[in-house]
Amino acid sequence: MSFDHKIKIAPSILSADFANFGQEIQAIEAQGADWVHVDVMDGHFVPNLTFGPMAVKAFRPHVKTVMDVHLMIAPVDPYIDAYADAGADVLTAHVEAGPHIHRTLQAIRAAGMKAGMALNPGTPAEAVAHLLDLTDLICVMTVNPGFGGQKFIDMTAKIRRLREMIGDRPVHIEIDGGVDPNTAPQVAQAGADVLVAGSAVFKGGSVSDPSVYGENIRSIRAAAEGVWA
Ligand code: DX5
Ligand code: ZN
Repeated sequence: MSFDHKIKIAPSILSADFANFGQEIQAIEAQGADWVHVDVMDGHFVPNLTFGPMAVKAFRPHVKTVMDVHLMIAPVDPYIDAYADAGADVLTAHVEAGPHIHRTLQAIRAAGMKAGMALNPGTPAEAVAHLLDLTDLICVMTVNPGFGGQKFIDMTAKIRRLREMIGDRPVHIEIDGGVDPNTAPQVAQAGADVLVAGSAVFKGGSVSDPSVYGENIRSIRAAAEGVWA
C-alpha cells in the first residue's frame, strides 16, 4: 500500500448481502473497488453490532486489494492483535473511543498495520494536531457512525483544515458516510482521497448483477475527479 493522492473508492460491505460476503467482496473488486471497507461495530461505542475478528479473518482471503478495517468499538487496545491476525491492512480507531488514542496508534503500527484514526462529526480537526506523525489515515465521519444509508453531514471546512495541518506528510483523508456522486466532488476538492461508500455502491446491484456495482463505483469516481458521469 503506497501513498498517492489519486481518488480511491472503498465500498463498505455494511451494505452487502450479509449471507454472502465472499462473493460480494470479489464482485466489488472485479468492478473497480480500490479498497474494501469493513465496519466493525460493538453495540456499545455505536448503537449497532456487526462482526468481530473471526469474521474479518474469514473475509481476508477474498480481499486482493486493501482491507480497511474501521473499528467503531471501545475499548480498542485489547483487540489490536486480533485484527492484525485477521489480516487488516489499515486499522482505524475512533479518537473518541478512549483517552489514549496516542498509545493506540503506536500499538497499531507496532502490530504491523497502517494506523488510522476516525473523527465523529462533533470532534474538531484540532483534536488530532499532536498525532499527525503517528497516523497513516484520518477518517472524517460525515454521518454519526452506526448505520449505513444516513444523510451526509457537510464537513468541508474540517477536511480542508486537516489537509492544511497534514502538510506534506503521507496521510490519507478518508470520508465515511453519505458519499455519493452528489457529495463526492466537495469532499475531494477539500482534500479527501479515500471515499467510503456503502449504499451508493451496492444499490441496485447484486452478485448476480454486479455490473451495477461497477456503474455506481465509476459514477462516484468520475464525480470526485471532476468529470460528471
Ligand atoms: C457508518 C459506517 C459507514 C457506512 C457508510 O457507521 O462507518 O462505513 O457503511 O454507509 P453509507 O455510504 O451508506 O453512508
Ligand atoms: Zn466505516
